[in-house]
Amino acid sequence: TKQKEPELPLFFGWFLLPEEEERIKCATMDFLKTLDTLEAFKEHISEFTGETEKEVDLEQYFQNPLRLHCTTKFCDYGKAEGAKEYAELEVVKDSLTKSDELSVTALIVTPRVFGARVALTETQMKLWPEGADKEGVAPALLPSVEALPVGSRAHVTLGCSAGVDPVQTGLDLLEILALQKEGKEGTQVEMDLGTLTYLTEGRWFLALREPITADTTFSSFSD
Ligand code: A2P
Repeated sequence: TKQKEPELPLFFGWFLLPEEEERIKCATMDFLKTLDTLEAFKEHISEFTGETEKEVDLEQYFQNPLRLHCTTKFCDYGKAEGAKEYAELEVVKDSLTKSDELSVTALIVTPRVFGARVALTETQMKLWPEGADKEGVAPALLPSVEALPVGSRAHVTLGCSAGVDPVQTGLDLLEILALQKEGKEGTQVEMDLGTLTYLTEGRWFLALREPITADTTFSSFSD
């Protein structure tokens, strides 16, 4: 008799340990609280609210995802291209349930998402699928994305505004990195955590002075 194929998950990724999740949520919420009080941010408030006068409470604006994680491969239960091949990689099978430390080097805020940029180590890069940075990227942005270092899309989604899917975080991060590379930085503000930069159309990038590290476990996730 034919053996049933093992089912593929929704996605693979590094999941923050519960206590780490709390620590990161607190630290990043403090940043949001400060951001919406800054004059520089208020000047561009209409890019979030669509109105010049209104205030925005960023803590309310972004909804928290259920479990903080950094996606490596979105498999969509096998419907995504390369899902089966990824699940069968030795490095993937060997890494499952193993602990690993992620390093967050920047935070991004846009009208759509709140996210953390993850700097992958060489070892972690082995779990980063080939071509993952480019997936779903608008054709107009492709050349700039191809010019960025591999793994530039790695991130943890910290929150999404109403009606936005978490996949947007990686896309907004790539757009910000491409704008930076072109030297399109606007206003800069020194904050306790690091340097905050404005990149047009409600996009903000906080380069952390000190990376925030978080302990994780590599695993698959199915709803
Ligand atoms: P992210 O990793 O950017 O946070 P969903 O709940 O929408 O099915 O998504 C489950 C997870 O997979 C989320 O973490 C999400 O975004 C990620 N994800 C969803 N769609 C894609 C995609 N097309 N490419 C890469 N990652 C995706």
